[in-house]
Order: sequence, then structure tokens, then C-alpha cells
Amino acid sequence: MNVREEFDDWAREGRDRGMEERHLNTAKHALARIPVEKGDYVLDLGTGSGYAPRALRERGAGRAYGLDASPEMLRNARGYTDGDGVGYVRGDFEHLPFDDGVFDGVFSMEAFYYARDPLDALAEVRRVLRPGGTFYCAVNFFEESETTHRWQEKVDVGMTLWSRAEYREAFREAGFYVASQDHIPDREVEIPPADEFPTDDWESREAMVDRYRRWGTLLTVGVSAENE
Ligand SMILES: C[S@@+](CC[C@H](N)C(=O)[O-])C[C@H]1O[C@@H](n2cnc3c(N)ncnc32)[C@H](O)[C@@H]1O
Repeated sequence: MNVREEFDDWAREGRDRGMEERHLNTAKHALARIPVEKGDYVLDLGTGSGYAPRALRERGAGRAYGLDASPEMLRNARGYTDGDGVGYVRGDFEHLPFDDGVFDGVFSMEAFYYARDPLDALAEVRRVLRPGGTFYCAVNFFEESETTHRWQEKVDVGMTLWSRAEYREAFREAGFYVASQDHIPDREVEIPPADEFPTDDWESREAMVDRYRRWGTLLTVGVSAENE
């Protein structure tokens, strides 16, 4: 299966809204950190239900785009969106359908590691950002968060499992300064008392605490360097 087929299925089954709800626990904190100035152009990579462009537009962005490879995700995202200034565009991370240097900020939540070639995808993000523009890259699936590794078995497309250091290294290689990297714990997911484990999803309470409270979402923030 390719990304389009996989996520078209998710969208048809209505799984985009559940995903939004789960991801928002931490994504809302990542979004709140983006220094949106009035009139900025911003892009959300792998937009799914399209919540991030809507939120960034509300924060004052002049124009917010959500890009996705899945036409069904985009169809749903458009259906959930009222008002102007938000656009949803079909495309791949490795070939962004935008001119050089048009964006002030790029965001991505739980999507970047689906890129067929993450280094090419980073080069594309850098190309469409203006010098000094920022990339807020949020992922829940990464090396140190060990309980997330099993997700690959549930998804029929390849996922890149990088460590925190590998994210930083790849950002630098692509021409970003790494402005910050940290974790946003998910404090909203309810964790039952120890005697209620195992559950359908979790062997132990410790594993659940590790996933949500210890590691949560890894946020790497890159600033696009000036061309030399
Ligand atoms: C797990 S969902 C996350 C959606 C949303 N960002 C959220 O937080 O709920 C990943 C999304 O990225 C899109 N995607 C994955 N790989 C892609 C690629 N290479 N190019 C464009 N979109 C891609 C998928 O179609 C899917 O909608």
C-alpha cells in the first residue's frame, strides 16, 4: 500500500477526527509556540483533518495551507473548514507545490516520518521557507519512545524511526539551525490505576506512563539559514 491508499482508507472510515483529538493533546502546545505574525504564510505538512491550518489562521496567519497526499483526507478537511484564508492542497513531502521562500512557518504533526525520503523532504521544507522561517516538526514515533515502535506493524507504509540526535543532525544537514528540541508530555490521556492492567493496548501502567507522560511528542524546531 502507498501513503495515499492507506490514509484514504483512514479518512473514509472517519479515523481522521479521532486522530485529531488524540494528537491535539500535545499538538495544541506545539502550535501555541509558533511565532505567527499577522499576515504570515504558513504550511501544515500531512494535515489530515486540517486542524492546524485552521488554528494558525485563527492566530492571525494571512494564509494557511494544509498539504496532504490523500485526496480523501483533503476532502474531509475542506468539509470541516469555514471561512477564507485556509487552503488544502494535494502533494508529496518530497515535491512541495509551492515557490521558493514563500512561507514564514511550516508545521507538521505525526506525519514527517512517513516521507519516502526524509532528507529530501527536509530539503523541500527549507526551499519553501524564507530565510529565518521556522519548521516545527512534531512526532510521537521516535527511537527513545520505545513503546511507539510497534506502530509500524499496524501501518502498511514505511516509517522512519529516528532518534532525537538523528532529527537534529538531519535538520543541520538540510541547512537549518536547531533552535530547540524538547518533549511535550501528554497529560490529558487518562492512565488507569495499576490493578486495571493489562488492557487491550497496554501490558503495564509503566509502559503507558513512558509513552504519554515521559516522552509524549518530540518537537524539533529548525530555523532556515540564509543561503551562502
Ligand atoms: C498520522 S496522519 C496525521 C494527520 C494530522 N497531522 C494530525 O495530527 O492528526 C499523517 C498524515 O500525513 C499524510 N502523509 C503521510 N505521508 C505523506 C507524504 N509523503 N506526502 C504528503 N502527505 C503525507 C497522510 O496522508 C496523513 O493524512
